[in-house]
Amino acid sequence: MNNIRPCLRLVQNSIFFQGQQRFLHVEKHKDYLRLINKNDTMDFHYIWLRHNCPTIGKSIHPKTNERIVDCAAIPPEIKPEHVELVENEKKLKITWSKDHTSLFDLAFLTSNAYGKNRLETKKPQTKIEDIELIYDEKNQHETYLANCYERLKKYGLVVVRQRGLDTEDIIKDFLPCGASVVETHFGRIEDLRPDNTTNQNNDQLGYTNSAINLHTDQPFIADPPGMQLLQCIRSADKGGDNYFANARHAALYLREIDPNAYYILTTTPVHFHRKQKEFQSIHIGPIIEIDNDDVKQVRHSYFTLAPFNFPFWFTTAYYNAYRKYASILYDPQSQYRVKLERGDFVLYDNYKMLHAREEFTGPRHLRGIYFRHTDVWNKLEKFSKDKI
Ligand SMILES: [Fe+2]
Repeated sequence: MNNIRPCLRLVQNSIFFQGQQRFLHVEKHKDYLRLINKNDTMDFHYIWLRHNCPTIGKSIHPKTNERIVDCAAIPPEIKPEHVELVENEKKLKITWSKDHTSLFDLAFLTSNAYGKNRLETKKPQTKIEDIELIYDEKNQHETYLANCYERLKKYGLVVVRQRGLDTEDIIKDFLPCGASVVETHFGRIEDLRPDNTTNQNNDQLGYTNSAINLHTDQPFIADPPGMQLLQCIRSADKGGDNYFANARHAALYLREIDPNAYYILTTTPVHFHRKQKEFQSIHIGPIIEIDNDDVKQVRHSYFTLAPFNFPFWFTTAYYNAYRKYASILYDPQSQYRVKLERGDFVLYDNYKMLHAREEFTGPRHLRGIYFRHTDVWNKLEKFSKDKI
């Protein structure tokens, strides 16, 4: 993700570490300290360091070697006056005050490291020019596919202008030989228009001219389609702009600014329940699904959420967590706004991006097609710029 970067602000020197010539630095940050060698970083909160201070008499009982400090007694805003690497840079010296220093073995810190190679996530910022491209049939088709791949991989979506109206031709761009689009309870291809007659189960918002706020598609099935392509056959007379937000990036930013909200949304199962006249499906799972400390998939769909049924004491906490996540997603600075014109399309990752549209007038007509992640990546990866 383009604006997730390690935060680096060096305040100390290079050194030898454990007999090997490796650069090692220590940095002071607002509420934590960072140790850096050539390849790795380790972050420790100041409160953790004070809690685990090895100083006999201050933190450890001189006779029993037991800890004598209760972390509840440590001020949450504690910050050292000075930090430095000493004793051939095998130890970290922290000066808390005139009469209290801590001397940590780097081996102890390494074996207890809980914030290794941590990346900081900045607030999502969007630039439409990052995700847009104009199709030109005079250019090589491979270059067009490579450009789609780069944008999809980096930003989670690509907007292609002037690709044309041949839906089947566009489908071929993103499917490898022998693969097919993902059919849903609406059919193979959706004709998203208020006067829809071609799809099954069209008693849903997509087939009206109403505004639809940010959401992912098909969260009520166990394995939602990984990508969606929306092709514009006819734009609206008024309104109907689409907008998109990167839900993965927003979730990682939520983790930085409100870990409690992130924890609630990643661990609390909710019911996604699609109930139509002739179709019904339920999936139970968290809004943010994580895997290996990263966001694997977001399910976010206010119009298919079943009534919450949490314990009374937890209900307000859940609403607060949901609202906090939404406040990041609904910030216009976090959104790409796109007016699709006749012949344009947008392709986006349905696990990582939310999509929405404004209310509109006129016979606006978009076609919706779903793909599997594996099919799209298999097709596009060979056009990656470092391979052609
Ligand atoms: Fe949708």
